[in-house]
Amino acid sequence: MVKIMSHAVGATSYKSLLQTDPEIAAVIEAEQKRQQDNLIMIASENYVSRAVLEAQGSVLTNKYAEGYPGARYYGGCINVDKVEELARRRAIEIYGAEHVNVQPHSGTSANMAVYLALLEPGDCLLGMDLCHGGHLTHGSKVNISGRYYNAHSYGVDRITNMIDLEQVRGRALQVRPKLIIAGASSYPRQIDFAGFKAIADEVSALFMVDMAHTAGLIAARVHPSPVGFADIITATTHKTFRGPRGGLILTREAYASLIDKAVFPGLQGGPLMHIIAAKAVAFREALQPEFVAYQKAVLRNAEKLAISLSDQGFDLVTGGTDTHLILVDLRRKKISGNEAERLLEEVHITANKNVIPYDPKGANDPSGIRLGTPTLTSRGMGPEEMEKIAAIIASVIDNKNDTVYLEKTGREVEQLCRDFPVC
Ligand SMILES: Cc1ncc(COP(=O)(O)O)c(C=O)c1O
Repeated sequence: MVKIMSHAVGATSYKSLLQTDPEIAAVIEAEQKRQQDNLIMIASENYVSRAVLEAQGSVLTNKYAEGYPGARYYGGCINVDKVEELARRRAIEIYGAEHVNVQPHSGTSANMAVYLALLEPGDCLLGMDLCHGGHLTHGSKVNISGRYYNAHSYGVDRITNMIDLEQVRGRALQVRPKLIIAGASSYPRQIDFAGFKAIADEVSALFMVDMAHTAGLIAARVHPSPVGFADIITATTHKTFRGPRGGLILTREAYASLIDKAVFPGLQGGPLMHIIAAKAVAFREALQPEFVAYQKAVLRNAEKLAISLSDQGFDLVTGGTDTHLILVDLRRKKISGNEAERLLEEVHITANKNVIPYDPKGANDPSGIRLGTPTLTSRGMGPEEMEKIAAIIASVIDNKNDTVYLEKTGREVEQLCRDFPVC
């Protein structure tokens, strides 16, 4: 069992909050309990450390600091300048990039800032199809990225469900994008960054990697890095990275000024200095050997969970995983994504329904479910628990109409949660 760091679900007593706003205090207490009493298997979530929570809940929230360290539009920035400098220095050390901007409020803001910096409205971008694992912000028609830009997409191979670089190249030659985006929300395999870069060079496109999901794995060097291949890299600091909710952008020096201007004043006003402080704390944590051990354990657990689910008769998209996430094709089990999500919730397992590539059903009731191991690993679970959890998931689906069985299983899962407390 690898219990890596102290995590914060029961970190605060909320004394003042209880007095001022008992309704919100009660909801937070309830959420604290939910996070403790359920197996959280949402691939994009994690438990931050107490140190991250403390920085996030600090008086830095009171400070306005439009601009960048040494060049602010407000007085009194002496302390927040230090915070942002520390965050930047640590992020650069982690990834070995030339320049970083730590101000984006989220992964979406980071992506929008890149588009604002590098594209004009109507310019062509090429990203991964949302229905094949890409993200909304990579050109979906319901997102600003697909409305303001001429967005095209590439998908995965129909048989292997893997990214086929020949297909990507074909699309790139066809649409001649100004920007090619690699990176995904529900693609369980490594992405060939060198291969993408070669395609981008061939069509004279800029190359961006959105490593939101894998940022923690890449920081620990247990997953290939896009640094050196991508012109611009965006990330979230939550998900595998296990920091506060937020975004960041890594760039080559050549794009540093464009990116900084796009984040502020282009897209945002005052940076969230309390969040930037929490990012800095998470960066410091990521530079410790325990973080590497944690990320290795995340991968080991995902691999074990994938093998165990296969043993239980589940079909996995691409046949397995190289990352922290698994995409399960539920069709053979004759259950929809919606029903599986609801059923698992009944037995204290939180996961999300997900489209699978070439899904015969729509996004509202897709044929898949996405599972991740970051939170289970943060609470100290290992391969033995992964095997147990796969068996529970299978048995729950097999006995979906047996309420007595479901109640009994729910109690078993609660006990498992108690055996691995989140604090
Ligand atoms: C690949 C990818 N990019 C960007 C984002 C957006 O991040 P945020 O929710 O912080 O805006 C996500 C979130 O799921 C993601 O998976």
